[in-house]
Amino acid sequence: MKALPLFASLGLSGALLLCACQMPGKPRPEPEVPRPEAILSFDRLYAENCSACHGAQGENGSAAQLANPEYQALVDDATLRDRIDKGFKGTLMPAFGMASGGELTEQQIDVLVKGMRQRWRKPNAFGSDTPPPYIGTHPGDASKGEQVYATACASCHGPDAQHPGKNGPILDGSFLALINEQTIRTTLIAGRTDIGQPDWRNDVPGHPLSDDDISNVSAWLIAQRPRLPGQPYPNLFPTSQLPAEKQPSSVTPAQR
Ligand code: HEC
Ligand code: HEC
Repeated sequence: MKALPLFASLGLSGALLLCACQMPGKPRPEPEVPRPEAILSFDRLYAENCSACHGAQGENGSAAQLANPEYQALVDDATLRDRIDKGFKGTLMPAFGMASGGELTEQQIDVLVKGMRQRWRKPNAFGSDTPPPYIGTHPGDASKGEQVYATACASCHGPDAQHPGKNGPILDGSFLALINEQTIRTTLIAGRTDIGQPDWRNDVPGHPLSDDDISNVSAWLIAQRPRLPGQPYPNLFPTSQLPAEKQPSSVTPAQR
């Protein structure tokens, strides 16, 4: 009968101990779900914000192939930041920066830029060739673009909107309504290895497209947007015609 008080007191202190550790409903000092701005993992930020449009691994999405070493060599950090922060007017690329109504902090945008560089940039992506600059040196002249299209594009994309060719109906009005001149320029210079679009050297092998060819054909394509009554698709944001201070920082594409 001597053991009883001992058990009783053990039981009591055990219960006290339990109470002290785990009061039901007592909040823990740290929230179990991190605050959105505390997420600083590239993989998570990319998967949650970008992969739906740009593809899980930066390619095979509906939007630009970010995991393209030629693309990564063509743009500088400031351009990447600017696109993510402010979005890309005239396309479906949303603005993610808080100042533009998005939900990513500057620090998170930096994580995305650094992460893309680490994963998808390769040294010497252009070999010994120097690509045309990311931003065209002159505004495109649409009247000269049709000829470029006939020489360099029609073989794959067909001669006109009624005959779309085997490789993507790029003269289709609803496609043209979703892109801007810079998107076409980017696609033409860096190519898209994921979907089979050649880079600027290989539309017509042996005859690389010049800076002007690219500006002119981009302007011409945008000028083909249909203007249906009540549904005009004006070229609201011809990036090549923005004043210098409004343009994303230009690049020295050199061999990186
Ligand atoms: C709703 C779809 C969508 C989402 C989500 C999206 N993008 Fe985009 N993005 C686009 C489209 C559309 C374009 C422009 C057309 C193109 O290049 O295919 C674009 C363009 C870009 C460009 C510029 C390409 C160029 O021409 O220089 C970058 C860089 C970019 N996106 C990065 C990102 C990153 C990083 C994220 C995630 C934080 C993201 N995007 C999320 C649709 C999206
Ligand atoms: C050797 C064939 C070939 C040539 C030449 C070619 N393209 Fe393409 N292009 C493709 C293929 C393949 C695709 C992918 C089509 C698809 O996904 O449906 C494509 C897609 C595109 C896209 C859509 C890109 C996107 O992000 O969805 C554009 C814009 C484009 N080409 C423009 C041009 C222009 C302008 C020219 C001429 C300067 C040109 N292409 C020359 C094969 C070619």
